[in-house]
Amino acid sequence: MGIVLATASCAQTTLKEAFKNDFLIGAAVSPAQFCESNQVEAALVKAQFNSISPENVMKWEVIHPEPGQYDFALADRYVEFGVTNQLAIIGHNLIWHSQTPDWVFRDAKSNYVDRDTLLARMREHIFAVAGRYRGKIIGWDVVNEALADNGTLRDSPWRKIIGDDYIAKAFEFAHEADPQAELYYNDFSLENEPKQAGAVALIKNLQAAGVKICGVGLQGHYSLEKPTLQKIDKAISTFAKLGLKVMVTELDVNVLPSPGHALSAEVSERYRMSAGLNPYTNGLPADVQQQLAQRYADLFSIFLKHRVSISRVTFWGVTDGNSWLNDWPVQGRTNYPLLFNRESKPKPAFDAVLKTAQGKTAIKLSAGESALAR
Ligand code: G3I
Repeated sequence: MGIVLATASCAQTTLKEAFKNDFLIGAAVSPAQFCESNQVEAALVKAQFNSISPENVMKWEVIHPEPGQYDFALADRYVEFGVTNQLAIIGHNLIWHSQTPDWVFRDAKSNYVDRDTLLARMREHIFAVAGRYRGKIIGWDVVNEALADNGTLRDSPWRKIIGDDYIAKAFEFAHEADPQAELYYNDFSLENEPKQAGAVALIKNLQAAGVKICGVGLQGHYSLEKPTLQKIDKAISTFAKLGLKVMVTELDVNVLPSPGHALSAEVSERYRMSAGLNPYTNGLPADVQQQLAQRYADLFSIFLKHRVSISRVTFWGVTDGNSWLNDWPVQGRTNYPLLFNRESKPKPAFDAVLKTAQGKTAIKLSAGESALAR
């Protein structure tokens, strides 16, 4: 039986076609998609997107699990899928406080190593990974999530052992390893003033030091209400003023109740399941589906307003079934954060996003009304 491509329910176009004059449209992919074991999802990626990001397979714990031991098998398949399908291939990520094995920071006696030792390990890793894919990866998330919510540097082992300049060193090594690749700083909640100010200071310091930084990734892990459109609009303008490309690198819209206090993507956060935290196990109610459609239409209206500054918008997953938000910050929930449902079919939010590209204006919904002006 031939593969039935998920096509737009109300338009004869695709995401990549609709925004081809605006910005790249990407998706974070996993082995089921780029090894094509899930043929329907693989076909959906090829049909709808012109860029891919590796959700997990290029993280340190996967690609460099032990000292001197690299496992490039899945990363090679990811890059091969991108090359074969002429996709803009993103590297994610070189240096992060999470998913980095503890041995990286320790000596034989389990004590922290010294600055020079850790810098040597960082350089070796970046040269091995970014050097391997030189000329194939268009841009790297060089440093991921280096800032705390208050805008100060996260007190990670990278910072504790090397010092604040670990960030500049990571960018320096990445540029040496692949001089053609674009180099990005990537983080969540950069729409919040204190963290945004911290990121601006970080980037200005890198620029003053002559470090090659090309762009900033606003991860875009949003909810139906937060952050406000005004805060997103301001964040994009603020980073664009630094002369950087702005990317939305991990877009999803969480429709479930938040057990915590603030919108976050702090991967270490965890909460126990409790009544009321998983309200849509039998499907998303029509009114919430419409709220999601409106939210995505509003978001893409903002992105289109800044189309000159935005080089890429990447969704953090392909279908609702793939999303990390089914298991974070509460394990085992049923979330609906993306444009394609668990059957790889387009949702009303997909139609709403396409219509923003056709110049229609997103309007406030009244009950049952379409998400957008006709
Ligand atoms: O591959 C192993 C599998 O062998 C094992 O059986 C299973 C159970 O322990 O774990 C599997 O690894 C999991 C991996 O996802 C692949 O599914 C890790 O435990 C799990 O921690 C990991 O979660 C990822 C998370 O980053 C941490 O790396 C999410 O899928 C991924 O969506 C998420 O993505 C991050 C970005 O990289 C950075 N920005 C925030 C974003 C969301 O946290």
